[in-house]
Amino acid sequence: MDQEKVIVIDFGGQYNQLVARRVRECNVYCEIYSYKTDLAQIKAMNPKGIILTGGPNSCYEDGAPTCTKELFELGVPVLGLCYGAQLMQHVLGGKVEKAPVREYGKTETFVDKSSALFSDVSEKTIVWMSHFDYISQVAPGFKIVAHTADCPVAAAECTEKNLYAIQFHPEVLHTQEGTKMLHNFVRGVCGCAGTWKMDAFVENTIKEIREKVGDGKVLLALSGGVDSSVAAGLLSRAIGKQLTCVFVDHGLLRKDEGDEVESVFGPEGQFDLNFIRVNAQERYYSKLAGVTEPEAKRKIIGEEFIRVFEEEAKKIGAVDFLAQGTIYPDVVESGLGGESAVIKSHHNVGGLPDFVDFKEIIEPLRNLFKDEVRKAGLELGIPEHLVFRQPFPGPGLGIRIIGEVTADKVRIVQDADFIYRSEVDKAVAEYKKANGKAPAWMPNQYFAALTNMRSVGVMGDERTYDYAVALRAVNTIDFMTAESAEIPFEVLQTVMSRIINEVRGVNRVFYDLTSKPPGTIEFE
Ligand code: XMP
Repeated sequence: MDQEKVIVIDFGGQYNQLVARRVRECNVYCEIYSYKTDLAQIKAMNPKGIILTGGPNSCYEDGAPTCTKELFELGVPVLGLCYGAQLMQHVLGGKVEKAPVREYGKTETFVDKSSALFSDVSEKTIVWMSHFDYISQVAPGFKIVAHTADCPVAAAECTEKNLYAIQFHPEVLHTQEGTKMLHNFVRGVCGCAGTWKMDAFVENTIKEIREKVGDGKVLLALSGGVDSSVAAGLLSRAIGKQLTCVFVDHGLLRKDEGDEVESVFGPEGQFDLNFIRVNAQERYYSKLAGVTEPEAKRKIIGEEFIRVFEEEAKKIGAVDFLAQGTIYPDVVESGLGGESAVIKSHHNVGGLPDFVDFKEIIEPLRNLFKDEVRKAGLELGIPEHLVFRQPFPGPGLGIRIIGEVTADKVRIVQDADFIYRSEVDKAVAEYKKANGKAPAWMPNQYFAALTNMRSVGVMGDERTYDYAVALRAVNTIDFMTAESAEIPFEVLQTVMSRIINEVRGVNRVFYDLTSKPPGTIEFE
């Protein structure tokens, strides 16, 4: 796609993907590359601007990630953030050293409003600082344009060369006017027109798919997750019946989920494609019978998926393309930013089918972040309940049922989970109606799981000996760490009493308080 681009050069900081996302929120396309990327390659991409990210090192130490002086002489505006700011100063002749006072957290900063970076920013603004080193002396030609009580150079600029250095992190939301600053850089300093919009992406991608595929055939494994659903929507709009989607119902989906996917992508739905639903429930249950070890269960579920998919592919015969729902974070995390991504394995287990006859992989979403995938999904008319659905693991309820999986246990966890999600959704909707915003306790992911524990209870006058359901709800930013969410007690009590009354085989409900670490979000 021929469009204006900003390049984010990655120095190993934790917020690097966030920088790129924020730039894209300014409707400017951007890509992340390692600091090791060749200067010639960067030049060849003809960027409108370059952003150097933060990183954990000290730029004056031997072996620290670095860049050459020539990077600043391309005639392209450069913005350095945190480590990137220090590195810019260090390389261009300024001085960076250990700061007398470490700055960490929200910090009051005084900015020079005449700087292009701070146009429309308040003179006194709160920013997010996180640094041990500081710029004690700016490089020749630079002017200081922001400071804090402890940091004499919170920002500096050399307008003549369009070079900007910011010690803090405008990309994190704690920096109150950070988005404005990034907007000022990419739209103001770099002069980007802001043409990166999802309607244009959808339109252009449909054209590209048509050109690439010609009259070829495409096969896609549709899981009903956000990524594969949006990929299916795009491909369908581009090539219609040349696309075949295989949807494997492994009997480990949430309540009614298989039918929901079918109602959107099946013959009655709004998309033109060949939809094959394989009801493989029994096959999975019999493979899983007697298996209790979590990794063994995951492996069986993943491998069985490949086998079912292969069988369907064989019936279809040779295809030209195998489509994948790879998205940009997968590309970046594989460490191959800009190059070809490691092929994403279905369900993150098992790997690619060995016996599917295809010539090429097609990945229509490989440049998109998750929130962009969602926007594209809405553009394509995919229903909101699919576009905004919670993360759901490939092995499905198989890893939310501790121990052996049986059809009866699947029924229990499906029904309990449905009640739990409905009640939480209802409480959130009521709160939003009354307060105009989501509650602070609003979890990112919440679901029921089935413990493998049975205990004695009493119902009516009868003794029971039934299962305990566990409720999980977490607040998380990146799913690498998570806190248990504080769902109001009365909501939990309603859920408990509905589950015990409505789901046969359950007589106890637990709420999981464990954070991650030490727990994981899923149970197995
Ligand atoms: P854990 O349990 O590792 O989960 O704390 C972190 C996030 O990843 C999801 N998850 C998976 N997603 N395939 C997936 O596609 C999997 O095998 C898988 N296991 C966990 C989990 O739901 C949570 O959002």
